[in-house]
Amino acid sequence: MKEFPQSEALQRLPEQFFAKLVNKVMKVKEQHDDVINLGQGNPDQPTFKPIVDQLKKAADNPNYHKYPPFAGYPFLKEAVADYYKREYNVDVDPRTEVAVLAGTKTGLVEISQCLLNAGDTVLVPDPGYPDYWSGIALAGANMHEMPLKQENDFHPDFSELSDNTLHNAKLMFLNYPNNPTGAVATHALFEEAINLGDKHDICIVHDFAYGAIGFDGKKPISFLQIPGAKNVGVEMLTLSKTYNMAGWRVGFVVGNPSVIKAIELIQDHYYCSLFGGIQEAAAFALKSDQSNVTQLVNMYESRRKALVDGAQKIGWNVEAPKGSFFAWFPVPEGYKSETFADLVLEKARVVVAPGVGFGKYGEGYVRIGLLSEEKILQEAMERIGKLQLFSSSL
Ligand SMILES: Cc1ncc(COP(=O)(O)O)c(C=O)c1O
Repeated sequence: MKEFPQSEALQRLPEQFFAKLVNKVMKVKEQHDDVINLGQGNPDQPTFKPIVDQLKKAADNPNYHKYPPFAGYPFLKEAVADYYKREYNVDVDPRTEVAVLAGTKTGLVEISQCLLNAGDTVLVPDPGYPDYWSGIALAGANMHEMPLKQENDFHPDFSELSDNTLHNAKLMFLNYPNNPTGAVATHALFEEAINLGDKHDICIVHDFAYGAIGFDGKKPISFLQIPGAKNVGVEMLTLSKTYNMAGWRVGFVVGNPSVIKAIELIQDHYYCSLFGGIQEAAAFALKSDQSNVTQLVNMYESRRKALVDGAQKIGWNVEAPKGSFFAWFPVPEGYKSETFADLVLEKARVVVAPGVGFGKYGEGYVRIGLLSEEKILQEAMERIGKLQLFSSSL
């Protein structure tokens, strides 16, 4: 059989680090049926029932059996604008400042193809969500990592960026509440980013995937709440985490009209928007009473307590995440993130995600998801405790 070579663009794509992890986990699972997987980021709860019911009704609507409008139904964009007004008191023009995405993963890859030329520089958080890298690679652009360090609350230190880097930079990705560190943004951080974007013509992309998930009674701030945000950037919003709709593939990009136009242009060539029934159910989710979301966040907060208490009990000196559904724990002395993750997989049958998979500054940490019940999180900590890895272990 002929083997056709992949395009140069495809060959530039980074290795999928987590595919390797999945293979390791499968091997252990073949021999043991009690593996606890805390390594992934898939919400464990079903979509809220009223949203599913809305889709069922909408599926009968023959209008939705036809091609939808290329850029999505106006009612969905209006629902996004209403959501921003209600949740953040931000005014958004649904006609020019919202694009519908088949999940934000798609938008995060597309935006690099929309705005970058080969050789441009992109500022990316490190550790960070690996999908940012994919679009950058396809565009033939260069990544410049912005280290997220614990001593800086996992915010980038923009003063470390040289004039040359800032001159060549065209795009910057930020993500708060942050995957993988669980850190949250401040007004000051976003203001600094906006000033930088304005001064150096850098488009700021704020990935707000975990926007609904903030702990200790603190609602995470939207980038668009900060004056001047729309002038320099966009925010990506997804229904995947807020409403447990990861499988539905619905997201949005909201903000600067020139960026929205570019995203809609590329999408005119790739897709024909989403099934109308999904769009109707998505609009329903955004517009309806959000008490299910509050309950979901409370559930993650209880799990956070179970995990952090369990960790402290075994002598693991950890900090609780402020948002997202991930905890970012340091590995014990003498280990690297991968050797520690391999050890707890083999000896405790607990899967954690090695921090280095999120970038070189993720070394020294592992990411643990709050996507299992409290008792499972507790058991995972007990099993890791039995390995006696921490100086104050019982
Ligand atoms: C930080 C971050 N951004 C974006 C996404 C993509 O979300 P979706 O494509 O489901 O909208 C994820 C998913 O895990 C994520 O963790």
